[in-house]
Amino acid sequence: MVIEGDRVILRLIGSSDMLSLQRWDDDPEIVRLVGKKFLYPERTPAWLARMRHSPECLALAIVDRASNTLMGDLELEDISWRSGRAELRICIGEKRFWGKGYGTEAIRTFIDHAFSNTSLKHVYLRVYASNHRAIACYRKCGFRAEGILRVGHKRQELSEDLLLMTLDKEMCRYQAC
Ligand SMILES: CC(C)(COP(=O)(O)OP(=O)(O)OC[C@H]1O[C@@H](n2cnc3c(N)ncnc32)[C@H](O)[C@@H]1OP(=O)(O)O)[C@@H](O)C(=O)NCCC(=O)NCCS
Repeated sequence: MVIEGDRVILRLIGSSDMLSLQRWDDDPEIVRLVGKKFLYPERTPAWLARMRHSPECLALAIVDRASNTLMGDLELEDISWRSGRAELRICIGEKRFWGKGYGTEAIRTFIDHAFSNTSLKHVYLRVYASNHRAIACYRKCGFRAEGILRVGHKRQELSEDLLLMTLDKEMCRYQAC
């Protein structure tokens, strides 16, 4: 599977991408925003196999077309093909690409493809309420805030409110997402 945008190419994650994904896991700033993808490095082959073969998830590499650089990954999790619902996650791990429109283009390119060519029709995501860059990016892609998920306990270090955002195929049709 290869999906082409103007500046980004989305393709299936492969074993040659895993070192980059693991490197991003070592960056405290990224971990604060998205958590660790791999709590146990020895489980990365199992993660890759699941992403490649399970119908309930999908992991795509986000590649900069101009330099052919792997800059991040976009995942769908908990896909229900029956209801057309899935959770979206994105991480641009190469920080020099932040704030240049790549995240917006990657999501728009993917959503456009998925809503046109698959039975997916409802995508949701969770984002820390303090992650203003991500929220601005998601709004540009047409996501709407639905509510706040209050998680954890105030005394726990990682306790922070999560914003739940959704995007529907029907909404996109009227808003030209
Ligand atoms: C979130 C992420 C995917 C966004 O992709 P991106 O390419 O950096 O974002 P874009 O450039 O497409 O859009 C970001 C928007 O946020 C705005 N922005 C940046 N910092 C901001 C801030 N502190 N407050 C408000 N808006 C901000 C930018 O101005 C831009 O909007 P504009 O185009 O209208 O000017 C990417 O930054 C990333 O992966 N970050 C690390 C991991 C992460 O946070 N993932 C999301 C977890 S839910």
